[in-house]
Amino acid sequence: MTLKTDLKQLLSTRWFRKKGKSVISFVIAMVSIPLLIVVVQSQQPVTINVLVWALESAQMEDYVEDFNQQHPDIELNIIEGPNETDQVEDLYTSAFLLGDSPYDLVYMDIIWTPKFAAAGWLKDLSDYVSQQELDQFLEGDVQGGMYQGNLYRMPFRTDAGMLYYRTDWLEQAGYEPPDTFSELIEISQSLQEQDYTDWGYLWQGKQYEGLSAMFVEILEGFDAFWVDPETLEVGLDEPNAIAAARFLRNTIVQGVSPPGVTTYEEGATRRMFQNGEAAFLRNWPYVYKSASDSEIAGKFDIKPMVHTPQGNSGACQGGWGFGIASDTQHPDKAWQVIEYFTQRDIQKEHALQHGYVPTRKDLFDDPDLVEKYEYLPDLLEVLENAVLRPPIAQYAQASDILQRHLSAAISGTVTPEKAMNRAARETRSLLERSKNN
Ligand code: GLC
Repeated sequence: MTLKTDLKQLLSTRWFRKKGKSVISFVIAMVSIPLLIVVVQSQQPVTINVLVWALESAQMEDYVEDFNQQHPDIELNIIEGPNETDQVEDLYTSAFLLGDSPYDLVYMDIIWTPKFAAAGWLKDLSDYVSQQELDQFLEGDVQGGMYQGNLYRMPFRTDAGMLYYRTDWLEQAGYEPPDTFSELIEISQSLQEQDYTDWGYLWQGKQYEGLSAMFVEILEGFDAFWVDPETLEVGLDEPNAIAAARFLRNTIVQGVSPPGVTTYEEGATRRMFQNGEAAFLRNWPYVYKSASDSEIAGKFDIKPMVHTPQGNSGACQGGWGFGIASDTQHPDKAWQVIEYFTQRDIQKEHALQHGYVPTRKDLFDDPDLVEKYEYLPDLLEVLENAVLRPPIAQYAQASDILQRHLSAAISGTVTPEKAMNRAARETRSLLERSKNN
């Protein structure tokens, strides 16, 4: 008997004439509902999650809306993280260690690259971007995204530590901006004695990553170094490095910096400077925009960091960019987000709105940006000579060691010499252990 005759017989039964229609409707429903679900699901946008430190996550909101409108198949979702880079790094680290991380993209500080890449948490981006395209970006920032010859992070915005100073007070008191550490102290004390200001110099002394970033600038100024990334030699207990730690401690002992500086991060020092509480401040370039909108507008300027007569101006190379989590289900969509953020227009907008420094070279002489940030063309040279924090896979631990001992030295718990000796010893054994592994 063929299928055709079977069907004919079934259709002619009394049962079918009575119940047949509802059976057919039932079968159609059973087949079509899952199909419908698949169709609806495939039309729903794919969510791309990224964790961003607090202040910047709010500043990125406008771009998220714009991006989502331009890409109906993607829903970019920025999750607000804590404010400090170390804390954001800890959140990413525990998510990746636990596995099944919720993050598709990683918004990365430049110092995370070696650790995250070595751990296998990031996708190699080399196939997504041509060398010609990469050549449009600052070399230091591209290098900061490389690990063992592969690219793991696309640079979005760069950073370099600078010295802010009050032009009005210096002019009134007859001083040129300082070039050396001694001049900085001398001018501070004189302005304090003449009651221009309560405090001379503000810097980041809290025990966190900002302390290490600030300290590499003082080290460079004293012609000293932290870790040589090629030889893994440690320089923290050399006389010049001890002198660098002593300089910081002395700013407090001499009353040039407030004792509270040992608990300040970037935000606290920025607010004090903007409130007119100090003559000098070490901070990142974004403070220029914020201070221009404050009560000290038109009364300050920025310049490269001070140094000893033998040392160089040290600007710590900072900056942020995007990597793709190696376990994301949607790497191509995540790349579209990176393309969007690193394009010229968005970098320019981010600079105009929030004062961040772009990573595309041609934006450094963009007329709109230069009109607003006169220092920008000169910053290019500063960035070309910026000092790296050691780009090694054990960076987070090395920085932690330095922060602990330097913090003890600047708060006066131990002498700068003892602190730097201890920091050097611990750093050497950290690097030895990893060599043996
Ligand atoms: C800035 C820099 C970053 C650095 C951090 C320290 O965000 O861009 O590289 O690690 O400050 O607080």
